[in-house]
Amino acid sequence: MSESIAIATWEFGVPSVRRAGEILSAGGAAMDAVEKGINVAELDPEVPSVGFGGMPNAAGVMEMDAAVMDGRTHAVGSVAALKDCKMPISVARAVSEKCRHSMLVSNGARQFAETQGVTRENALSEKASEKYQRWLADGNAKPEFMHDTIGLLAMDSSGDIVAGCSTSGMAFKHPGRVGDSPLIGSGLYADNAAGAAATTGNGDEILKFCMSFLAVEFMRSGETAMAACRKVIERFIQMHPEKENEDINLIALSPKGDYGAATLRKKFPFGVWDDEGCRCETVTRH
Ligand code: GLY
Repeated sequence: MSESIAIATWEFGVPSVRRAGEILSAGGAAMDAVEKGINVAELDPEVPSVGFGGMPNAAGVMEMDAAVMDGRTHAVGSVAALKDCKMPISVARAVSEKCRHSMLVSNGARQFAETQGVTRENALSEKASEKYQRWLADGNAKPEFMHDTIGLLAMDSSGDIVAGCSTSGMAFKHPGRVGDSPLIGSGLYADNAAGAAATTGNGDEILKFCMSFLAVEFMRSGETAMAACRKVIERFIQMHPEKENEDINLIALSPKGDYGAATLRKKFPFGVWDDEGCRCETVTRH
């Protein structure tokens, strides 16, 4: 029997790991914990970068990215630029379990969602719409660097590890822009034998370095989850010292149950649920 655990990016990940923990402590599966945990953030209109509450693209349209990976089977499901959907992680899970493909985008993802009973719904909250109108009125031509993904990693009592993530992506992005989150290996990765990782921050940088896969490979070579996260950040800085102030953050979970995070920010908070309860922890730049 493994000790169950769930960790998630950001302080807004705390209610998500709490929900994941309820499922895990009742003997539930890591896949359910990840999906239902992420749904909590997706449905919260106060989370300004995920699901209902997230920010639209430059045309005022919500385009969601989400993905899930099962560390036992390596099954993956991913959706990108999915419109009219508040809970894209549930569509990503359906892709992994009910679709012969791994990743669906835009209209194709929307079509598939409908076959799963996910009818069109307005995913643009009043607050996000007001913010978008202000952005337009200010004559802004650039996207805003607000792209805080929820990444959630869970291990259940069978030792199965699942990674998931969901985001509306960079605020006011170019229509069709896809970040790191739905890209397997970049936004997330899971392998029962080595661990799981998820990233958050500037996806246009993160996706160049397959950071989640890299963190998992460091754990496979014997690093703890914390050391693996730090080594990913160190690798990036070695390659690009001029980008030392990029917004890059990641979390990781090892099959032994140790967890970690690392950041290029001054501070990066993340949610943890384990046998010691549910809490927010913070790592600082190292
Ligand atoms: N990390 C989320 C994004 O850049 O879309």
